[in-house]
Amino acid sequence: MGTILKPTVTMRFSLLVSASVFFASCVFAGRGDGQHHADDFQSICSSIASKLKIANATVYFSQFMEAGTNLSLADQDASCGSNEQPFQIISADACRVALYVTTSNRSGIHMEAWLPKNWTGRFLSTGNGGLEGCIQYEDMAYAAGLGFATVGANNGHNGTSGEAFYNNPEIVADFSYRSVRTGVIVGKQISKAFYRKEHKKSYYLGCSTGGREGFKQAQDAPELFDGIVAGAPALAFNNLTSWSGHFYTLTGNSSSPNFVPANIWPVIHQDILRQCDALDHYVDGILEDPSLCNYTSKELLCGSTSNATCLTPAQSLTVDKIFQPLKGLNGSLVYPRMQPGSETLASFLLYNGSPFPYTTDWFRYAIYNDPNWDPTTLNAHDYANAANINPSNVETWKGDLSGVKKRGAKILHYHGLMDGSISSENSARYYEHVSKTMNKSPNELDSFYRYFRISGLSHCVGGDGAWNIGQNIGAASLDPQQNVLMAVVKWVEEGVAPDTITGTKFVNDTQSLGVAYQRNHCRYPKRNVYRGVGDATKPGSWKCV
Ligand SMILES: *[C@@H]1O[C@H](CO)[C@@H](O)[C@H](O)[C@H]1NC(C)=O
Ligand SMILES: *[C@@H]1O[C@H](CO)[C@@H](O)[C@H](O)[C@H]1NC(C)=O
Ligand SMILES: *[C@@H]1O[C@H](CO)[C@@H](O)[C@H](O)[C@H]1NC(C)=O
Ligand SMILES: *[C@@H]1O[C@H](CO)[C@@H](O)[C@H](O)[C@H]1NC(C)=O
Ligand SMILES: *[C@@H]1O[C@H](CO)[C@@H](O)[C@H](O)[C@H]1NC(C)=O
Ligand SMILES: *[C@@H]1O[C@H](CO)[C@@H](O)[C@H](O)[C@H]1NC(C)=O
Ligand SMILES: *[C@@H]1O[C@H](CO)[C@@H](O)[C@H](O)[C@H]1NC(C)=O
Ligand SMILES: *[C@@H]1O[C@H](CO)[C@@H](O)[C@H](O)[C@H]1NC(C)=O
Ligand SMILES: *[C@@H]1O[C@H](CO)[C@@H](O)[C@H](O)[C@H]1NC(C)=O
Ligand SMILES: *[C@@H]1O[C@H](CO)[C@@H](O)[C@H](O)[C@H]1NC(C)=O
Ligand SMILES: *[C@@H]1O[C@H](CO)[C@@H](O)[C@H](O)[C@H]1NC(C)=O
Repeated sequence: MGTILKPTVTMRFSLLVSASVFFASCVFAGRGDGQHHADDFQSICSSIASKLKIANATVYFSQFMEAGTNLSLADQDASCGSNEQPFQIISADACRVALYVTTSNRSGIHMEAWLPKNWTGRFLSTGNGGLEGCIQYEDMAYAAGLGFATVGANNGHNGTSGEAFYNNPEIVADFSYRSVRTGVIVGKQISKAFYRKEHKKSYYLGCSTGGREGFKQAQDAPELFDGIVAGAPALAFNNLTSWSGHFYTLTGNSSSPNFVPANIWPVIHQDILRQCDALDHYVDGILEDPSLCNYTSKELLCGSTSNATCLTPAQSLTVDKIFQPLKGLNGSLVYPRMQPGSETLASFLLYNGSPFPYTTDWFRYAIYNDPNWDPTTLNAHDYANAANINPSNVETWKGDLSGVKKRGAKILHYHGLMDGSISSENSARYYEHVSKTMNKSPNELDSFYRYFRISGLSHCVGGDGAWNIGQNIGAASLDPQQNVLMAVVKWVEEGVAPDTITGTKFVNDTQSLGVAYQRNHCRYPKRNVYRGVGDATKPGSWKCV
């Protein structure tokens, strides 16, 4: 999950396990028994660093982390820490191994493996966000707390900036695919050396850039994973980056007559709901299928006098362009439109009157190798250049997932329908692309690839609706029906695929205040509609059609 792109979630779900429970059911790889297990685990953990023999790797340290530890992440690049918290609470006893692995003669990754004492035999890789640069410790704590031997890597460079890509395509290669791949290959070796046996199944969990990273391996290295959870994937990456940057060329800065001030966006959001909320047959502030919403802002046009909440013709045109697909040279599609309903996040992230930092960095350091490139000049030639240069095939747009199918692996793809960072319409476009490339109907794709549209979910986490689907450490439940990670595990290990995913809305997004309501999210191309009778806060009052 992203950092700039990720709203802070304060809620936390405790998976703390009491020590007495642990001693009663110790499962650490069958070494000795009874009271000595904890000591064995700790001593094996502290000695593993000196015993690991891994090509191209320098092991820094290994360290036992007791459940409840408040792990300081002070070593992390400060730009990561300003978005993620600079500490992580550890939810279950685990061994932490930190190392550096070279990926070329001028690149390498910092990575960690977290090896839980109560190991399930499962392996998992986390991903990254934005243009980072940051190990996603929160996701590592989540997965390790659930008994996965978990790895995370820094994507080949430290921090949120893309400056490291400047004149170093090897670091771009790490960002495109090689950091995750190396982390998985090395991580599986560490897991085997530590537990003295092979893992049983291998998983992936990521969102945003992390979602793209999951699909990248599915497309090019399907042997790595048995199950992949890919959220809000940054697919068509160069084109996405052009699209993210083009909003500034529509709005200009805050003095431009085209600029739409932040305080009008909530009014536009309400106008969108007024026009489109009833399309799912229930008015609750949540669009179950924004792709049906043909929004225009004409009803907000100012009359003879303007005021704080009406739009001038120039502003109205800006708004309407935001909800149109982005076209390039000769009218070719660069990227689908922003889906209506996403204004809360998008207005401060993309329509804020400043160039989008990831777009600026990507063009300066990965596309043009020109630190002086000016983001105000971004145009259709740049979109075409980025798509053509496509360094290390970061685009991640291969529609052929037959490697995944052949291997019997499973992909659970999800996307929030109020995502104001990456339009969910691109996820539908990718699904259609796979369907067309493989010549498979949705029924046929269902055997290995399912895409769930999550109403009321913003970018990866947060949002107005029943957005909690177990995608991160704040999981509402570990029941596979309500948890995308446990759903993919069940699909892989028991052959039972998720039909719907039940999302949870907590009162004020605070778990301790209790559940406000739950709603089932449908898998594409089905969409959710209210049945017309019954309590709309109950999943059974809705159906996928
Ligand atoms: C160990 O993990 C299993 C699930 O794999 C769980 O049922 C059990 O409660 C866990 N035990 C401890 C002590 O965490
Ligand atoms: C963890 O430690 C940091 C300081 O390093 C502190 O700010 C934070 O409140 C602690 N968190 C918890 C839950 O104890
Ligand atoms: C070690 O790195 C070199 C290049 O830096 C590479 O050619 C070699 O394949 C790597 N070895 C392994 C086992 O990955
Ligand atoms: C790194 O490897 C490349 C070939 O992959 C070679 O052209 C280059 O000279 C090497 N650089 C150094 C510093 O060894
Ligand atoms: C990158 O971060 C790692 C810790 O994750 C740290 O050990 C390393 O020194 C950092 N590298 C640079 C160049 O700052
Ligand atoms: C907006 O851009 C114009 C033209 O480039 C410039 O003159 C003006 O100072 C900028 N205003 C702000 C608030 O940045
Ligand atoms: C949106 O526009 C499309 C294409 O013009 C049309 O088929 C559809 O009925 C419209 N939807 C609504 C809800 O008006
Ligand atoms: C602002 O202008 C619009 C359009 O002319 C009008 O509908 C709205 O009531 C006005 N709002 C206020 C607060 O005057
Ligand atoms: C656009 O059309 C022109 C003239 O037909 C052609 O030369 C050019 O390659 C096209 N560009 C793209 C990006 O398709
Ligand atoms: C990316 O945009 C270019 C035009 O700039 C277009 O030709 C290409 O098809 C687009 N690729 C994807 C995956 O959308
Ligand atoms: C939820 O948040 C609202 C607005 O901040 C507040 O008025 C309300 O008291 C909160 N509800 C609970 C149960 O805390």
